[in-house]
Amino acid sequence: MTFDVDPTDLLESSARAIAERVEELLAASGPLPIVTAGHPVLRRAAVPFEGQLPPALLARFVGALRETMRAAPGVGLAAPQVGVPLQIAVIEDPAKVSDEVRVARGRVPVPFRVLVNPSYEALDAERAAFFEGCLSVPGWQAVVARPARVRLRALDEEGTVVDEEFTGWPARIVQHETDHLDGTLYLDRAESRSLSSNEAVAARWGQPTSERAASALGFRLPG
Ligand code: CO
Repeated sequence: MTFDVDPTDLLESSARAIAERVEELLAASGPLPIVTAGHPVLRRAAVPFEGQLPPALLARFVGALRETMRAAPGVGLAAPQVGVPLQIAVIEDPAKVSDEVRVARGRVPVPFRVLVNPSYEALDAERAAFFEGCLSVPGWQAVVARPARVRLRALDEEGTVVDEEFTGWPARIVQHETDHLDGTLYLDRAESRSLSSNEAVAARWGQPTSERAASALGFRLPG
């Protein structure tokens, strides 16, 4: 299969165009507008960060991503979600959940951090299946079976190498955000029959695990 490439799309990925786009975004105060599913920027592989933004601009951009993630609120945000096709994402999870949920889902707090040019690999065959959502797909959630343990390789915002293992909910967050940088949305990996509105999740599927939803909606869980 081939795609016609619009030359203006290629220009958008040049270092100068990206820096200009970021300057434009930062000119307005407050959280950045989040683009939603259907925008092509969410479906293209972002380009590796190779200094396209000078250090001061990168710092301001990361600060704006953090502010936007917190305001949403969300536990992660990738640069393409604000229309910037760079491999940069931020994550942070205060994990304000019940003990029961924390234990069942491995949802422990994640301090704020920046992932630059991240990639991950599953450490074993075990998968965990829980409802997740995305700020670019507002109003909906679906169950995604993801590797329970991953090794994440990335850089931080200072260019220091990150090579770490993640488990539990933090493993889900780093997979979800890294997928964004590859043009993948969680819906691509979701059990489609689990698709539920936020209202339905709040009313019916707040249990710590996904078994009841699987049996009522008719989808399979791993293992
Ligand atoms: Co998302």
